[in-house]
Amino acid sequence: MNRLRIMVLSLIVLVTIMLVAACSTQQPTPTPSTQTTPATQVANVTATYVGEKTCQGCHQKTNYDKTPHYQSFKPLSAYKLDKTYGSITVYDGAADNAKSTTIDISKALGVEMDTYVVAEIPKEAGFSKRFYRVGHLIKNPDGTYKIESASVVNGTQNWSAGEYTCAECHSPNMGATGTPDYTITCEGCHGPGSAHVAATTDDQKKATMVLPNSDTCLKCHNSDPKKDSTTSAIITTNHYGTRDYTFSKHNTTGQINGCLTCHKVHGPDANGGLLKKDKPNDICVTCHAGKNYDVKTIMWDNKSDPHNHITADHSFTAIPESATKVNPTTKNVEIVDPTVLDMIKKALPDLAK
Ligand code: HEC
Ligand code: HEC
Ligand code: HEC
Ligand code: HEC
Ligand code: HEC
Ligand code: HEC
Repeated sequence: MNRLRIMVLSLIVLVTIMLVAACSTQQPTPTPSTQTTPATQVANVTATYVGEKTCQGCHQKTNYDKTPHYQSFKPLSAYKLDKTYGSITVYDGAADNAKSTTIDISKALGVEMDTYVVAEIPKEAGFSKRFYRVGHLIKNPDGTYKIESASVVNGTQNWSAGEYTCAECHSPNMGATGTPDYTITCEGCHGPGSAHVAATTDDQKKATMVLPNSDTCLKCHNSDPKKDSTTSAIITTNHYGTRDYTFSKHNTTGQINGCLTCHKVHGPDANGGLLKKDKPNDICVTCHAGKNYDVKTIMWDNKSDPHNHITADHSFTAIPESATKVNPTTKNVEIVDPTVLDMIKKALPDLAK
């Protein structure tokens, strides 16, 4: 019954979208940054995920599957294990371990970032959530991998078994019915595509699929000041985020088209990354003619990120490494320059308590 109601509702919403799309023949030019796209939001509410293969069926095959986004979640079979692993014990929640069950690890859904083995817990176990990080993949010196299950590492490392909260960014389709995709697929950025697939004319196709912009990237590449407050000192750690991009003149002057000025996402560059050109400077000179930036120095790494996420600085000299005035080889890269501190406090008040 419920399903029928949802289908009818979906239909009504779909027709509304089409009508709205038909009325606005002149599509406004998309502007970067803070723009919101109501059409996607409406489509997202009703549409469901159809899976990567369906998209590829109509759209020219790209090298998307070679990109780091796609490769961030791989099946366990992609790794040569050092022995056969059977059943392991899994706990519901890292802190209390109130409930436990055993699962066959060979049936795991896959591995996130070459490290975390993720599995679905059978309903019968009575766990509070469906997906858990159940094991830690560790590379042996001979190139094979061993799996440490949560019971072994629990309490002794900074990682322990727990609900797979990472899915939101690392496996956005996880839990969606009708798709075997667990990695970041087309629909991770473009949103669930069932309405788009069902649409019959080109106009309807366009109306059911809005082109993403930097806002889409920031859904996952977003800093969360709350997650950074593990120390009272201000560090340039934008947890999971595009560190310090907020402060760059690229962002504040609004003169460039956000992330997509320098990045592309449908296929890898020659180094396996996501830059528009294989050499970063070849991008910079298109606007900064004659300059030869040392990108590795300008975009300095932050050693103090407690979670070791990728953290190339994107402030483009608004926050130079020298502003930290501490030994950059230590883990604690705290900003002490008062001018820079002031700037951060104004922009990110949550961070400055
Ligand atoms: C049945 C064939 C078909 C399938 C399946 C399909 N598309 Fe499309 N798609 C089209 C057509 C046709 C267009 C319109 C082409 C045009 O006129 O530019 C389109 C357009 C698009 C656009 C451009 C929209 C715009 O505003 O210009 C995007 C993005 C897109 N599709 C993404 C996807 C994704 C993601 C999937 C998988 C969820 C998918 N498509 C599945 C046929 C398909
Ligand atoms: C990481 C985010 C992301 C992923 C993943 C992604 N796209 Fe896109 N896509 C974009 C953005 C952003 C644009 C806007 C055009 C641009 O600047 O690249 C776009 C544009 C498009 C277009 C319009 C024509 C074009 O190329 O500009 C199509 C069609 C499309 N995507 C299909 C796909 C398909 C099919 C997949 C999966 C194989 C996919 N996309 C995966 C972000 C993404
Ligand atoms: C669904 C979440 C999600 C979205 C949306 C997303 N990303 Fe990512 N991105 C990730 C995750 C997770 C990683 C780390 C895994 C990896 O290396 O791919 C990553 C990695 C990257 C990397 C580093 C790749 C490397 O060299 O290792 C770049 C660059 C990047 N993303 C750019 C973008 C851009 C540009 C967009 C918007 C068009 C975007 N991302 C949208 C989640 C996302
Ligand atoms: C002015 C160009 C430019 C813009 C704009 C830009 N990036 Fe980058 N980004 C780069 C360059 C260059 C690198 C490679 C840095 C390196 O070689 O270490 C990079 C690296 C990255 C990485 C990987 C970090 C690492 O340490 O390897 C991610 C993730 C990323 N960018 C995401 C984004 C997102 C999301 C946006 C939009 C908010 C964005 N970038 C805007 C130029 C840019
Ligand atoms: C699409 C054009 C464009 C591209 C590509 C671009 N920039 Fe910029 N950049 C700008 C603009 C516009 C400003 C702001 C200029 C201003 O108002 O002072 C800026 C500012 C800067 C500044 C600050 C300058 C200062 O003196 O305060 C640095 C540093 C910088 N860019 C480095 C880079 C690097 C490194 C790259 C390549 C990875 C790059 N830019 C790519 C347009 C671009
Ligand atoms: C809010 C979105 C988001 C969530 C939630 C998230 N991540 Fe990430 N993660 C990213 C993005 C974006 C990247 C790539 C860019 C970066 O490192 O800043 C990344 C990168 C990573 C990396 C690669 C770091 C490196 O330097 O190679 C690991 C490992 C990782 N994430 C693990 C996790 C785990 C484990 C969880 C769950 C506990 C998690 N992430 C939750 C967005 C997220």
